[in-house]
Amino acid sequence: MSKMEVKTSLLDNMIGVGDMVLLEPLSEETFIGNLRKRFEHNEIYTYIGSVVISMNPYKSLPIYTADKVEEYRNRNFYELSPHIYALADEAYRSLRDQDKDQCILITGESGAGKTEASKLVMSYVAAVCGKGQEVNKVKEQLLQSNPVLEAFGNAKTVRNDNSSRFGKYMDIEFDFKGDPLGGVISNYLLEKSRVVKQPRGERNFHIFYQLLSGASEDTLKKLKLDRDFSKYNYLSLDSATVNGLDDAANFRTVRNAMQIVGFMEDEVQSVLELVAAVLKLGNIEFKPESRVNGFDESRVKDKNDLKEMCELLGIEQSVLERAFSFRTVEAKMEKVSTTLNVAQAYYARDALAKNLYSRMFSWLVTRINESIKAQSKSRKKVMGVLDIYGFEIFEDNSFEQFIINYCNEKLQQIFIELTLREEQEEYVREGIEWTNIEYFNNAVICDLIENNQNGILAMLDEECLRPGTVTDETFLDKLNTICAEHQHFESRLSKNSKFLTDHSLPHNCFRIQHYAGKVLYKVEGFVDKNNDLLYRDMSQAMYKANHSLMKLLFPEGNPAKVNLKRPPTAGFQFRASVGTLMKNLQTKNPNYIRCIKPNDKKAAQVFTDSLVCHQVRYLGLMENVRVRRAGYAFRQAYEPCLERYKMLCKQTWPHWKGPAREGVEVLLKDLEVPKDEFAYGRSKIFIRNPRTLFFLEERRKQCLEDLATLIQKIYRGWKCRTHFLLLKKSQVVVAAWYRRYAQQKKYQKIKSSSIVVQSFIRGWKARKILRELKYQKRCKEAVTTIAAYWHGTQVRREYRKFFRANAGKKIYAFTIQRIMQKYFLGLKNSMPSMSPIDKSWPARPYMFLEGTHQELRRIFHLWRCKKYRSQFTEEKKAIYEEKLEASEIFKDKKALYPCSVGQPFKGDYLEINKNPKYQKLNSVIDEKVLLADVVNKINRANGKGASRIFLLTKKHFVLADQKTGQVKASVPLPDLSSVSVSTQSDGFFALKLKEGTPSAAKGDFLLSSDRLIEIITKLHRSGTASAEREPINVDISDEFLVQFKQDQVCVKFIQAGPKNGNSVSCKRKNNRLLEVSVPSP
Ligand SMILES: Nc1ncnc2c1ncn2[C@@H]1O[C@H](COP(=O)(O)OP(=O)(O)OP(=O)(O)O)[C@@H](O)[C@H]1O
Ligand SMILES: [Mg+2]
Repeated sequence: MSKMEVKTSLLDNMIGVGDMVLLEPLSEETFIGNLRKRFEHNEIYTYIGSVVISMNPYKSLPIYTADKVEEYRNRNFYELSPHIYALADEAYRSLRDQDKDQCILITGESGAGKTEASKLVMSYVAAVCGKGQEVNKVKEQLLQSNPVLEAFGNAKTVRNDNSSRFGKYMDIEFDFKGDPLGGVISNYLLEKSRVVKQPRGERNFHIFYQLLSGASEDTLKKLKLDRDFSKYNYLSLDSATVNGLDDAANFRTVRNAMQIVGFMEDEVQSVLELVAAVLKLGNIEFKPESRVNGFDESRVKDKNDLKEMCELLGIEQSVLERAFSFRTVEAKMEKVSTTLNVAQAYYARDALAKNLYSRMFSWLVTRINESIKAQSKSRKKVMGVLDIYGFEIFEDNSFEQFIINYCNEKLQQIFIELTLREEQEEYVREGIEWTNIEYFNNAVICDLIENNQNGILAMLDEECLRPGTVTDETFLDKLNTICAEHQHFESRLSKNSKFLTDHSLPHNCFRIQHYAGKVLYKVEGFVDKNNDLLYRDMSQAMYKANHSLMKLLFPEGNPAKVNLKRPPTAGFQFRASVGTLMKNLQTKNPNYIRCIKPNDKKAAQVFTDSLVCHQVRYLGLMENVRVRRAGYAFRQAYEPCLERYKMLCKQTWPHWKGPAREGVEVLLKDLEVPKDEFAYGRSKIFIRNPRTLFFLEERRKQCLEDLATLIQKIYRGWKCRTHFLLLKKSQVVVAAWYRRYAQQKKYQKIKSSSIVVQSFIRGWKARKILRELKYQKRCKEAVTTIAAYWHGTQVRREYRKFFRANAGKKIYAFTIQRIMQKYFLGLKNSMPSMSPIDKSWPARPYMFLEGTHQELRRIFHLWRCKKYRSQFTEEKKAIYEEKLEASEIFKDKKALYPCSVGQPFKGDYLEINKNPKYQKLNSVIDEKVLLADVVNKINRANGKGASRIFLLTKKHFVLADQKTGQVKASVPLPDLSSVSVSTQSDGFFALKLKEGTPSAAKGDFLLSSDRLIEIITKLHRSGTASAEREPINVDISDEFLVQFKQDQVCVKFIQAGPKNGNSVSCKRKNNRLLEVSVPSP
């Protein structure tokens, strides 16, 4: 940090006193007053030296942001206002830089904020330590282990909505760079009695409610569960939902966290199955069944839940059912089976549920450890975070509270030991003399509980292992005789007569004066809970389950490994694990967070003096301050001390050139601080009395004010001078710009005047030159004209003798010849094709050739047509002639004509000669058949057609029956006067006969054929071919008369509407009219 940078300090902007050591005067009132003042200003953290007191704000404060993390990162402990981050930073840096293993001990009663504090420490460390893919994964796994353990190990109690019901100690391991490698979690005594019964206003463990609210329908179905809490005996209903707690969302968080931590999908499923099994187990009920020997034997009442539970865990139903009715006791070689009554069956059921749940919880911790354990084997630095259940005083305190409070005693003990030792060590390290200080040492209470010979736990164990009838009362009797004399033990029946009349002390209870207050314990359940008995039949039934996790949880059920030895008691196990924990903590550098609960209502901004006072007392905070102040209240390294106070002395201000310690010595001497008020350590100055510190602070404040005035004065002077200089500079600039502008203007004026004068002179000169040049040009032109005329005359005179009279004509003829030659050659090269239908012809090159060009075109066309025709055979020629005739008759006259153009005129369609059917017909005709086809003969009576064969020879046309070939009519062609057809696309035609001929007697023929064009053309041709006959007339009209025997009938063609379809229809309208409707084309 540069010397100019402003340093903040714990002492700046302080509300109350940030460090209780500096509190003056020190008393319980001022202590609590200070806490209250700070609490009211949302300053929830206060120091006692290096110990952090944390008040639960019961509301979220904006003091845990990423900016805050940055603010506290790498700063000295007292440099900023008190914060849990300062402690975390101090611990982390001393672990990383000084290679000291650390432990963070978080204590306080239930709901004081221990778990939150532990999470804040972990998240701070995670934020400041190294980064990288692998490291981030480790961090994430460590942080995500919290929601999993909280779901299974936390519950709503009257004191805390998220109360930890187990103790947790987590070692976070780091490598030499300070990057996290992994961690190890130890758990302490889960309060398993909660699984089967919860005090009023409390809940079972969160996971039960989370599962039922958050799991999908499908999952619930698989687990055979119902969403309704009220269906389960083990779930208390009066506070099943907790304000501000979203169980369903939390379930998703837990599942997600389990996945991040590394649980496999089938492991998660197994765990949920166990949770479901516990719920089912709670619903199993029993009824008595009388036996011959007079005893009652229990039987399962409704087997449905039992069945479902067995299905879930893969247990054979009969095995479990038997375990609820019988109990096998094995002793050496004997096996005795006794029946269980209903009460015992319920006891067995609850014991199973408790064991199942607590073992599953321990398995979860082991499984998490497996995931988060450090991979590398290299030496690790360790930071332990201890979040253990707080000191508890309930209305009814039982074995669990006894164990919890014992643990808190031990922690208090280690606090006392380590704080004093740390303090003492610092004085030794710094070479300063130390005087002892009085404080309450709770070692005597620890001894009362844990002493191996006559400690309460030892006696409980003794009682549990003793043969004969053992009850909670016999245990209390034992306590009464052995602990009666102990000053912290109180009981009505003890020999100590002091309590004989104490009515606040019931007969079945004993009371212990803990360091944190007196607690009354009910002995009921002590023996049972200590024994933690699970009938062997139960564990064997569980071991038999077809469920890998269950097998793992009940290894003692394995019949191959029957162990007749009693398992260690709960008390014994706990004492041992607390012993290990204490040893572990003693090897580490402790950092304390003392959590305090401001009120009992879980309310923000409420500060209950009495409650805080009680906690301050039992946490020994006053003593802590006193111990801290007994020696020296304040200490600070020489460098920051000199930096802070150097302005108080002329020699040290502004810079001290020598070592910092000497600077501080000079400073204190100059300030005339009494000698016994401070001591010089090796690296720190120790200040005995806060008053001295405040004196220094006060002087510093004054001095700062003077300095501020000085700075202000200099600044103002500097500001005015700079302003003046700026103005001066500006004035010069403005003047320069103005002068430049004025000169520019003047210069431009002179310049433009000189240009005007110049231009006049130049104009005058130029005009003069122009005049001269014009004169010269005129002279030159005159000379040229005269010369040209003269030369022309000369040339004409010279050439006249060579010139011929008809040269012009020759040249003309030659030119024309050349042009024609070019034209014909061009035409030769661009001749069109030989196809008669090709219409192309090259473009004309010269206008005067228009006539020739067109004539050539005509000649060429005629020539190529001739060429084309010359290829024809006689047959083809006849066909074309026929087609040509058809065109002459019908083109543009009858609508049917265009369709006939493409059709070849075959003539004999019926192949009369070849067809034996027409033999008879063949015999009648002796000439060549020109046309043979089937036509329709129209009946005049109804307009319908009848098929007839139509034959045409050179001389006749014949109509014959189509089927028989019998000739119906044979008409010589000369008898035919004309043929009538319509203009439309129909095939009707009338063959009209000459009047007076024998054929005419029968009347005209009205026929119809698709090949009308061919028939009529052929008829017409036969007429033109013979010289003796006139050609047959072809009438084309939409209305003509037909002579039928006597009557003349008019045939009229009309265009049919669309509804008449596409066919031609003929209808008789009346005696004189046949109407043919032809579809429009
Ligand atoms: N620093 C904090 N900021 C905001 N709220 C807090 C803070 N510390 C604690 N709380 C609130 O107080 C409640 C109780 O805190 P926490 O669970 O940490 O108590 P505890 O000391 O662990 O209790 P127990 O011994 O029962 O486990 C939290 O759920 C939270 O609502
Ligand atoms: Mg907690």
